[in-house]
Amino acid sequence: MKIYKVKDYEEMSRKAANIISAQIILKPDSVLGLATGSSPVGTYKVLIKRYEKGDLDFSRVRSINLDEYKGLDSSNPESYAYFMRHNLFDHVNILQENTYIPDGTEEDIDRECDRYNSIYRQLGGVDLQLLGIGNNGHIGFNEPSDSFAKETHCVKLSESTIQANARFFDSIDEVPTHAYTTGIQSIMKARQILLIANGEGKAEALYKSLFGPITPQVPASVLQLHDNVSIVADEAALSLITDKGLI
Ligand code: F6R
Repeated sequence: MKIYKVKDYEEMSRKAANIISAQIILKPDSVLGLATGSSPVGTYKVLIKRYEKGDLDFSRVRSINLDEYKGLDSSNPESYAYFMRHNLFDHVNILQENTYIPDGTEEDIDRECDRYNSIYRQLGGVDLQLLGIGNNGHIGFNEPSDSFAKETHCVKLSESTIQANARFFDSIDEVPTHAYTTGIQSIMKARQILLIANGEGKAEALYKSLFGPITPQVPASVLQLHDNVSIVADEAALSLITDKGLI
């Protein structure tokens, strides 16, 4: 596991965009596993700038997102489909038909999970999976639980995740209670994983994930078992780890 300590959100975004750019340049038809939330917004901005300068070409890139709120359709500004269009897809030359995200409007959970799992299989595996991390150590929407989930499934969001994500909604009552998410086993199949984290709020989750016991109670701790993981985190997010002299 490589841990890159950076100064702040801006440097984290540049460094993460460098790693993703290298992937696209070296393999123009890369499959990127993408995340939403606050963490990757800056990374996506840097990627857009590089595309505008002519340094990056997304025309053969395929992307598959980690998760989507259940019950939100893609025109809802809080949906992850909308987020991806707004923060990345509408600004680069990726083909819409090459972007995949769970369908939040599908009521039939088994059908949607099967559909999404088969997309993962058709894509032939993810080359680079971008991840944020929840305050509770979740990755995707794999919340702390008694076992590691395998493939796509529908989860009940934990109270702490609902509270953390309420900032994007008008009121906490509007935050969906369930989401479709890629499972831990599917995330772990990615050839390379890039986890980004910033801010003190992530310090405990990051410490437990990188140096604590591997347990489904801290879902990101499973990343210790992957042999190609890069962590790009700012000083605040790494503060507990540096305080303990672990890096
Ligand atoms: C989003 C996702 C989540 C977020 C995590 C951190 O697609 O899968 O695991 O990465 O909740 O969110 P932010 O970046 O908003 O702190």
